[in-house]
Amino acid sequence: MFARARYELPVEGGPLVITPLGAAEGDRLGVVFAAIDPWAAYAYPAAALSRFLAASEPAAQRLQLSLGDDVAGAAVIRTRWLRGPYLQFLAVVPGLQGRGIGSTVLRWMEREARMARERNLWVVASEINAGAMRFYERHGFEPTARLDDLVCDGRTEILMRKRL
Ligand SMILES: CC(C)(COP(=O)(O)OP(=O)(O)OC[C@H]1O[C@@H](n2cnc3c(N)ncnc32)[C@H](O)[C@@H]1OP(=O)(O)O)[C@@H](O)C(=O)NCCC(=O)NCCS
Repeated sequence: MFARARYELPVEGGPLVITPLGAAEGDRLGVVFAAIDPWAAYAYPAAALSRFLAASEPAAQRLQLSLGDDVAGAAVIRTRWLRGPYLQFLAVVPGLQGRGIGSTVLRWMEREARMARERNLWVVASEINAGAMRFYERHGFEPTARLDDLVCDGRTEILMRKRL
């Protein structure tokens, strides 16, 4: 799953190119995403998000999403989590949201998981992130568990599952 060094997927204005995320770019994107919700609403420190995106973990690939010459976003996929991969992080830069990039990444993740005969896709969304919850539900994910105080006290995350 997700083993190739480069994927090219058709999107409007595309192709959407998925490649490994370098540490320097991960560092930069951490600052970009700390400034937008849900991370801004959580007052999530930019340095922590940068550290997370710049890290290297064989079981959780850091991926760069590019559209032409533009860096369009980032994803982190924990490859074999619970009978299927866990999308630990997905964000599209503000100027390129709403153009089908996130949907294309979800469809690609599902294709890869099905080819590997996995049984599930997983993602966690903040309860306050109504847009993201709607986005995942439209793609067939169902709320599966409430995880109170997971990221910080007083906030709830929703574990969502798509059965394959
Ligand atoms: C959620 C997100 C990854 C979706 O990617 P995308 O490329 O914008 O999604 P698509 O263009 O394929 O689909 C758009 C849908 O995403 C949802 N969405 C959530 N936040 C959005 C935003 N800020 N702008 C546009 N769409 C958003 C909407 O439901 C929208 O559907 P609509 O047609 O009903 O408006 C992206 O908008 C994003 O990075 N948002 C901020 C970070 C975030 O919430 N990440 C998810 C954390 S679990």
